[in-house]
Amino acid sequence: MKLRTTLLAGAMAAAFAGAIPVAQAADVKEVQMLHWWTSGGEAAALNVIKQYLAKEGYAWKDVPVAGGGGEAAMTTLKAMVAAGNPPTASQILGYFALDYAEAGKLGDFTALAKKEGWDKVVPTALQKFTTTNGKWDAVPINIHSVNWIWLNKAIMDKIGGTEPKTFDDFIALLDKAKAAGVIPLALGGQPWQEATMFDSVVMSTGGPDFYKKAFINLDESALKSDTMKKAFDNLAKLRAYTDPNFAGRDWNLATAMVIKGDALVQVMGDWAKGEFKAANKEAGKDFLCYRFPGTDGSVIYNTDMFAFFKVSADRQAAQTALADASMNPEVQAAFNIIKGSVPARTDVSDAGFDACGKKGIADVKAANEKGTFVGSMAQNYAQPPAIGTGVYHDVVTKFFHGEIKTSDEAVAELVKGINNAK
Ligand code: GAL
Repeated sequence: MKLRTTLLAGAMAAAFAGAIPVAQAADVKEVQMLHWWTSGGEAAALNVIKQYLAKEGYAWKDVPVAGGGGEAAMTTLKAMVAAGNPPTASQILGYFALDYAEAGKLGDFTALAKKEGWDKVVPTALQKFTTTNGKWDAVPINIHSVNWIWLNKAIMDKIGGTEPKTFDDFIALLDKAKAAGVIPLALGGQPWQEATMFDSVVMSTGGPDFYKKAFINLDESALKSDTMKKAFDNLAKLRAYTDPNFAGRDWNLATAMVIKGDALVQVMGDWAKGEFKAANKEAGKDFLCYRFPGTDGSVIYNTDMFAFFKVSADRQAAQTALADASMNPEVQAAFNIIKGSVPARTDVSDAGFDACGKKGIADVKAANEKGTFVGSMAQNYAQPPAIGTGVYHDVVTKFFHGEIKTSDEAVAELVKGINNAK
């Protein structure tokens, strides 16, 4: 219903646009933002930006499209853009932004970027997604990484668990929880969540060079290799540790299982920390964060960007205000402390961050220097959506749910799907 209303409004706006010379209209002091930040932690983080803009006199028109990972949001965005009614800005991931940029749909914020020196503070890897041919058309509000695990500290204490350093350690820890009658692994059984977990399993099984060969370079021998088969076999091992009701569960409900002590651990990007924070839980006291076992030293990133579409002249001031707010160092600090991510600006101090946030900031810096800062395949930062969301999510979820039975079959399906999508 919401979508229909939005599309209708879009059609009406388009009809009026012919009659009213938009370039002469007064600036519209409203930011219309499409996003999928509907969980407690996500909404709290978004509030930081809303409040900042409110002080500058901008009203906020929320266009929330629930669904972790943003697949549903991307469908809504496509419809709005096709109807000639793009939002002021949209949360967007990786290659989705590049696709819109290539189609000539995005605006140009290079003047503001130059004035504020964004190119000096945003890691080069991210600038690939926020710029096109040297022009800035999106801004990064954060850097998330997917290779984390989140544990309930009281359960760890009860079972005498210690930080698992390898995949085998992880399995041994899950066994301990199982033996103690606790659900070991809180999992949301949705394709994007299983695929996001698999990113970590692949990194843990093959290491950063293998990850890059397979997912960034799409090297067929790596995709078909015994290492990739082993990664699928490792993923299959994790199946034995979920509760029976995991299918379809939202990611934040899985986080809630760990928060409440119904489960030991969740494998999830650091947006999970936003849920612990929203529940007033403290890092080190109530919950623990470790890198996914066997991936310490690497950061599999996704960054939340706001893409700015070409809009009529009267709406551009609102875009500039949002871009400016999002790149403000204080906004980035306040937002990311709540969101669980780390600032996209490398010049923001880690002072206000908890232990997990401090580790996140240090890890990003070190990984950037070592060349182990790599885009998430599941989050469309390694490959375009046709391969990431399209093929990868599909093969991983079919394998996880038993529709694809063996790791031999899984790698064959992965290679076939990727070759068709190329
Ligand atoms: C990711 C996004 C995060 C978080 C998560 C779950 O794709 O980058 O900010 O919102 O989805 O919704």
